Amino acid sequence: MQNNLTVHTMPHPISLEEVSPTGVAKIEGLDLSQPISAKQVGAIRQALLQFPVLVFRGQSLSKEQQAKFSENFGELEGHIGKLSDGSTFPTVHTLTNLNAEGNLINMDVAKLNYFWHTDKSYHAVPAFVTILHALEIPPSGGDTQFANTRLAYDALPTALKTRLVGLKAVHDWVASRLNSGTSPATEDQKQARPPVTHPLVRTHPDTGKKALYLGVHVSHIDNMASAESASLIAELTEHIGQERFVYTHCWRKDDVVMWDNRCLLHRALPNYEIARYPRVLNRTVIIGSAPA
Ligand SMILES: [Fe+2]
Repeated sequence: MQNNLTVHTMPHPISLEEVSPTGVAKIEGLDLSQPISAKQVGAIRQALLQFPVLVFRGQSLSKEQQAKFSENFGELEGHIGKLSDGSTFPTVHTLTNLNAEGNLINMDVAKLNYFWHTDKSYHAVPAFVTILHALEIPPSGGDTQFANTRLAYDALPTALKTRLVGLKAVHDWVASRLNSGTSPATEDQKQARPPVTHPLVRTHPDTGKKALYLGVHVSHIDNMASAESASLIAELTEHIGQERFVYTHCWRKDDVVMWDNRCLLHRALPNYEIARYPRVLNRTVIIGSAPA
């Protein structure tokens, strides 16, 4: 369906087409490898408020070009992990199931991505936007799912919304590793990532709309009995994961997808032969603001 948000005032118009009622749109008419104008940046920012997942097809980008495009939207965050490819752009992190020699590996830590999460929520100031660029994609599968936590919050019964008022969740890298069954956090990681507390319902700083804010990085609800906390987290996670809130992105090579972590959870699907096909994406993360 063609959306009427097509922007006519730009030198190279941005054509925006809604692709899912869960807040997903496709933008055409932009070459992200080239500098884009302030008006175009503004139009993308504006689109992101209505459609927290934006898809750009057919983009051929170097790491440097991806970094330059990403910097239009804020300060890039470095990755705490060691880069396997000796990259000179530490703000562009490669998600890959290939090792430095180009051989397929089954990365234990990648399992964490198979659980609903919002990027960097274990930081006091988590991610605003994440941008992924697909370099190599399996012939089928290897999808990424996005759950709209703004729509999920809106759909909660009033009594449950009332129960959530004032609740805070503890986000903890150590718990995240435990929750996802990945290898335990290292001492360095524990030092670098002490637990942080965020509102369970956060208010989007640009739209003023409320969204659920949790995911695999959450260890527990602050000041709540353990069993009740686990039960509430499970109930909300199941609610968020309903099909009516979820968009599944089937990647094509050269796709760029950017999303607003402040009102979405996402996860990768292990629905491909991981030991047979490469899946390689370059990632940039833009620093957001402290959830409130
Ligand atoms: Fe992620």
